Amino acid sequence: MLRVFAKPIPLVLLLGFCTAIPVLMAAVRVYQIPAGGLPADSLRVAAAPVSMWLHSLAGVLFGVLGPLQFARVLRRKYGRLHRILGRVFGVAGLFLGLSGLSLLLQVQSISTPLLEVFRGLAGGALVVAIVAGISAARRRDIPRHRAWMIRSYAIGMGSGTVALVMFPIYILTGEPPTGWFADIVFVGWWALNIALGEWVARLGQPARRQTPALA
Ligand code: HEM
Repeated sequence: MLRVFAKPIPLVLLLGFCTAIPVLMAAVRVYQIPAGGLPADSLRVAAAPVSMWLHSLAGVLFGVLGPLQFARVLRRKYGRLHRILGRVFGVAGLFLGLSGLSLLLQVQSISTPLLEVFRGLAGGALVVAIVAGISAARRRDIPRHRAWMIRSYAIGMGSGTVALVMFPIYILTGEPPTGWFADIVFVGWWALNIALGEWVARLGQPARRQTPALA
């Protein structure tokens, strides 16, 4: 079953499906912020228009390019394209993390401290993962590069896929989840995505050299 997702088209489709809602929402914000057309429930965001616009644009690029970069056929057959798109993906990831941190400082929060703290940790971790992934690529350490890029994608997009769990809760209860319940689900789901990314990242790592047991 898992082998199906090792093939390029199912993998790109699966990742694209899981992240379509946040990517589309971010694309709408890229248009709405300069056009002054934010909906009433997002007007808080207008307090930090530059960070929010950069955050949304970075989210679109990161979300669209991620699945393509992970498709083996692009890396193997079109290595130059993979490297060009990889630079855009890396810059987008840095902007996503840094603008996320700047939004935490600028936008009045309507979330619980649990989600705010987790967002801060994830924003910082995203920046660290991208820097580690790019420096591994520059050293031609491909297994580490692959692992750090998978981690960065899971950290960055893990928040977006939460729509996949919030929406069914909304359908079942008839109300959008709010407060501590919503934020516990949000953080739990995001952490689960990061753990899944970590598992996939470790799958491709060469086995560690065995240290001889001390007599
Ligand atoms: C480490 C990853 C991320 C962090 C730390 C982060 C952080 C934040 C923060 C602090 C806000 C303001 C929240 C508020 O309304 O109070 C926000 C909003 C937003 N983020 Fe992110 N984010 C991340 C990933 C993403 C991704 C991957 C996307 C899209 C693909 C995205 C798209 C958006 C959008 C569209 C909003 C505005 C929501 C609205 O208009 O109400 N974010 N983000």
